[in-house]
Amino acid sequence: MNNLLFPVLSILSDGKFHSGEMIAKHFNVSRVSVWQAISDAEKLGVEIFSVRGKGYSLSHSVQFIDEMKVKKSIGEMASWFNIKVFDVIDSTNNFLMQEAPKGYPHASCVATNIQTNGKGRRGRQWQSSLGENLTFSFLWRFTKGAAALSGLSLAVGVSLIRSLKKVNVDQALLKWPNDILINDDGVYKKLAGILIELQGDMDGQSAAIIGIGINLELSKNQLSKIDQPAIGINQCVEEKINPNEFLGIIIKDLAEVLAKFESNSFEHFQDEWQSYDALKEQAISINLRDGESIFGRAKGVNNSGALEVITEEDGIKTFSSGEVTIRKVE
Ligand code: BTN
Repeated sequence: MNNLLFPVLSILSDGKFHSGEMIAKHFNVSRVSVWQAISDAEKLGVEIFSVRGKGYSLSHSVQFIDEMKVKKSIGEMASWFNIKVFDVIDSTNNFLMQEAPKGYPHASCVATNIQTNGKGRRGRQWQSSLGENLTFSFLWRFTKGAAALSGLSLAVGVSLIRSLKKVNVDQALLKWPNDILINDDGVYKKLAGILIELQGDMDGQSAAIIGIGINLELSKNQLSKIDQPAIGINQCVEEKINPNEFLGIIIKDLAEVLAKFESNSFEHFQDEWQSYDALKEQAISINLRDGESIFGRAKGVNNSGALEVITEEDGIKTFSSGEVTIRKVE
């Protein structure tokens, strides 16, 4: 990666124009080197305005994720966690999937400022762009096997709702299994997504790589690339969120929820999950992996996190995976 790329981006992070000449002088490099750094940033999807006579600027101001600032937000518990922040990486989940089997520490949070190949659920891509999303993965090692982790992704959803409430986002809801939504004037918009990948034995020890992407402030450009209604957290609050402080809050909440999950399983979170259920009593369709669609009314989740649906033909049916769509009924 171009060594000058992030230093140049940090100059531009105030969202104001800076001339190529001034940046070159600041770093004692040539203007061509600055131009090269700008062009490399653009190749990574960073939107940069270039105006003759004014110089370069980002499309908005950006607060970079910074290890020290995240630790400061965590406070006295910071030493419990291994925090690593990349400038650029393909996918924080991929990083931990590679490193976890080599002994990467328990309770690690790996975040990145730019993610070039973010993975979403069901083989989708997760779109993210500098300053527009908070993207990180958390490694948690369980003494129980993967078979005992049903409902884990729902418990993580509960944890995120708790963190969102702490930064005054009170209206967030959960869409089974684990999307975080905001009801924006009657339209459900996605605020955050969770992708959990498991390693280890079914009944021995296991490791969960918990990937989380939270929209902070979406540009028109990014919105146009997302295949569903989406919203950024800064559209839900009066004062812009400080992403480093927010990540510290999330890490502490996650550790508390995961420790409880380890000892009590999902049942402990069932009632709280239901209280944030965006689908409750709604007419839904659930698309299964084999292409079949089931229609019914959502009833909530059982004590292992499976979705219960009241169907006309077969009464209550339970699903542990599937893609849910809310149906509009006249
Ligand atoms: C989804 O809703 O489809 C899940 C999205 C999860 C995205 C996050 S961003 C950080 C982590 N790294 C990835 O490659 N994916 C997850």
